[in-house]
Amino acid sequence: MNGTPQYAPVVAHPYALTGTEYDPGRAAGSVAGGDASYGRVVVPGEVDVSHGAILYLEGVTVSFDGFRALNDLNLSVDDGELRCIIGPNGAGKTTMMDVITGKTRPDAGTVYFGQTIDLTRLNEVAIAHAGIGRKFQKPTVFENLTVFENLELALKADKRARASLLAKLDGEQRDRIDAVLATIKLADAAHGPAGRLSHGQKQWLEIGMLLAQEPRVLLLDEPVAGMTDQETAETAELFLSLKGKHTLIVVEHDMDFINTIAGTVTVLHEGHVLAEGDMATVQNDPRVVEVYLGR
Ligand SMILES: Nc1ncnc2c1ncn2[C@@H]1O[C@H](COP(=O)(O)OP(=O)(O)OP(=O)(O)O)[C@@H](O)[C@H]1O
Ligand SMILES: [Mg+2]
Repeated sequence: MNGTPQYAPVVAHPYALTGTEYDPGRAAGSVAGGDASYGRVVVPGEVDVSHGAILYLEGVTVSFDGFRALNDLNLSVDDGELRCIIGPNGAGKTTMMDVITGKTRPDAGTVYFGQTIDLTRLNEVAIAHAGIGRKFQKPTVFENLTVFENLELALKADKRARASLLAKLDGEQRDRIDAVLATIKLADAAHGPAGRLSHGQKQWLEIGMLLAQEPRVLLLDEPVAGMTDQETAETAELFLSLKGKHTLIVVEHDMDFINTIAGTVTVLHEGHVLAEGDMATVQNDPRVVEVYLGR
């Protein structure tokens, strides 16, 4: 990237209606009164990645009783990137995801989604609706429902789809679910109960439930923990196939897995970026070896 982009909100963002649901009608009205002198039309809810970055954190600090879990954290992730985040236990990796998804408010710093959406002003629901999906470590699929039904529920939970839970799926929605089933390699298991899937397949289903909502950014915290080697290898393939269509931020301790998928790797230590670069660069960085890889 060239120079320091201006991460100033252009108009009051529609998702910034603290505590209220996003209302496209109201949002459209707010834009009509926007600052025309800026010379650029900003579509509400649209992620502006014209400077390349889809996520931008600057000077983010989070303190828990005086302990700094994040300490002046700076991170910029490009649109479509597959970014790996590594670092020792307690480095702040999960806390960073908590900040991006609105679960934890930073004490200081800037968190932007594209150039115009200030994530520190949105609640968790609004951030998810804006297009940032998060997968937690433990799968939370509905075991008694079929794989297909799990995806159907996820799709209908997507507010933009405006489908009610009782409405029948239309052709486009069915196609979307079929495409997700193919992506997560569960087409053959689609009509069996999710409870019968292996641990790895449940993780894929959970990723599929996120994909059904067509997120711009996917945050994945230790996605291959507990998977077999075969499942881990297939997950690497899955992530590589999603890269470009989505932006993926992957936290993992499994270095073989990271090695397989890595483009740029960011190493966190004590709430701060210790090193960043391709795998070879961070692997050969003596500071990284000392605090993490050499252990
Ligand atoms: N809600 C909280 N209250 C107090 N301390 C917290 C809280 N959440 C996280 N911490 C502390 O902040 C630090 C960073 O934790 P975090 O979970 O982000 O680390 P991590 O890099 O994800 O580690 P791991 O690799 O073990 O998952 C740790 O010291 C943790 O104990
Ligand atoms: Mg963690």
